[in-house]
Amino acid sequence: NWSMNDFIDQQIAKIRETVGDKKVLLGLSGGVDSSVVGVLLHKAIGDQLTSIFVDHGLLRKNEADQVMASLEGKFGLNIIKVDASKRFLDKLSGVTDPEQKRKIIGKEFIEVFNDEAIKLDGIDFLAQGTLYTDVIESGTSTAQTIKSHHNVGGLPKEMHFKLIEPLRTLFKDEVRELGERLGMPSELVWRQPFPGPGLGIRVIGAITEDKLQIVRDSDLILREEIKNAGLEREVWQYFTVLPGIRSVGVMGDGRTYDYTVGIRAVTSIDGMTADFAKIPWDVLQKISVRIVDEVGHVNRVVYDITSKPPATIEWE
Ligand code: XMP
Repeated sequence: NWSMNDFIDQQIAKIRETVGDKKVLLGLSGGVDSSVVGVLLHKAIGDQLTSIFVDHGLLRKNEADQVMASLEGKFGLNIIKVDASKRFLDKLSGVTDPEQKRKIIGKEFIEVFNDEAIKLDGIDFLAQGTLYTDVIESGTSTAQTIKSHHNVGGLPKEMHFKLIEPLRTLFKDEVRELGERLGMPSELVWRQPFPGPGLGIRVIGAITEDKLQIVRDSDLILREEIKNAGLEREVWQYFTVLPGIRSVGVMGDGRTYDYTVGIRAVTSIDGMTADFAKIPWDVLQKISVRIVDEVGHVNRVVYDITSKPPATIEWE
């Protein structure tokens, strides 16, 4: 596709012209948009770009390592990785309300980012992965807030950055195409949507490290089996949740009293509405068997068969 190659050339020229010999800061979330911005900017201005990657401890299994291996290892971005898991878990301790969790995670994220940004000298620009849909939605949205989708980022108020938003004219599918043209691996480019508050809203109720572990381990099994079944692109979003209830089971001759894991998998165009995905029974069976066998303290797996509306995609 020639027009995407033109777009890359034009953007690189434009970024170089805007930035000159100044420095740019980028907040990486591990998601598609900020990763593509990172690779594009690095191509344009190299080490004049510094990225901050805040690991809030609510990412999926191996996710932080994969982001680092790819963006730092393969593409050579200069990334400051902040392991803030403890800070986030402390702040979230005992908090059960979903909106409260979102607020805490959103606020903490900005604070951790700012704490790092303040240590850097002579930054003039802040890059963001704003898409065309964000531009439109922020202008016209009158929708009632069902969930406050705090996304990562947020401008440090005391720092007066100029913004660079190279994806402002693109839709999501174009961002993916751009990522592919830039040589980014398909796991990154085709990542399913992942909420800013991460696994924090997939452990229902109070978050603990043990519960996060169950969600991470079961989620990895789900992802592996969806991939093995070749359903990755068909199913729009798929993940496990931990409702926090325990139920009675039997293993060997013994009674168990352990957690239930919920599987959520939907087809959708944009996340506004969704249908539960009609995953073949044999795939679901395999997932169920593996989760109970391989993940500690789980003795039951249920499949969420509600669509959106009336349910939402995430359980919180
Ligand atoms: P719901 O659960 O509202 O989700 O049907 C629709 C889409 O949005 C994602 N989602 C979030 N994304 N911050 C985000 O950045 C959030 O707080 C948040 N809550 C839900 C969800 O994963 C789905 O793709």
